[in-house]
Amino acid sequence: MRYRDDIIFRMRKPVIAGNWKMFKLLQESVDAALQLKPLVANANHCDVVIAPVFTALKTVADRLEGSNIQIAAQDCAIQNDFGAHTGEVAPVMLKDAGSSHVIIGHSERRQFYGETDESVNWKTMATLAAGLTAIVCVGEKLEERDAGNAETVVKTQLEGGLSGLTANDLERIIIAYEPVWAIGTGKTATPEQAQEMHGFIRNCLNESHGNETAENVRVLYGGSVKPDNISTLMSQPDVDGALVGGASLEAESFAKIVNYK
Ligand code: PGA
Repeated sequence: MRYRDDIIFRMRKPVIAGNWKMFKLLQESVDAALQLKPLVANANHCDVVIAPVFTALKTVADRLEGSNIQIAAQDCAIQNDFGAHTGEVAPVMLKDAGSSHVIIGHSERRQFYGETDESVNWKTMATLAAGLTAIVCVGEKLEERDAGNAETVVKTQLEGGLSGLTANDLERIIIAYEPVWAIGTGKTATPEQAQEMHGFIRNCLNESHGNETAENVRVLYGGSVKPDNISTLMSQPDVDGALVGGASLEAESFAKIVNYK
């Protein structure tokens, strides 16, 4: 614990999360998870999370039981009511399958699958209602950054996605800042660019939910994070971890990112 202005702030424990997207079949997911397990077994400095596809969640979760690796789903339904919602998977079902986290509002879902700030908000509420942690993704496109609108875009996504949530709710929210132009492109934001936006996000959270909440919410960076750039990103004061795509697919490279220290 550290103390400031009579308010108790918890130290933010870093989170290193691997987003496996739609890359691995069931057996490949199990193999990668089992390969990863011993490589990150001593990583007490951070939370380690992997996000397999829906069909591998339960098996991977079972095979990792008792390890320090937590499981995230990559998306969820907008509510937990059982019923006629063909194709949807409720957060409560993801929990049933062994997930502790849900990634919500990833830019690929926003760009190609009609995700909006409103659906992100519904999904976030449903995730919290199921007792899971929501990893809420925000981030601007290149043309928005070039037009000088990056902060406005991110602020709008935050306000929409977190609308109606209390400071208490934010204890189980992780924000992932993923500039769209850096995802899968090999073009990482510089540590300074990441810090600038992470600081801005924390300011937005301060305005909306107060200083204590803003200081406690973990803000991850995502977009071409690799073993060779993780340390400089993590050295920024407001970067509390990473959401890793491509470099999380191989156990060795993801383990190097987890063990950045
Ligand atoms: P990347 O993906 O690491 O491959 O850029 C990040 C993400 O999409 O979460």
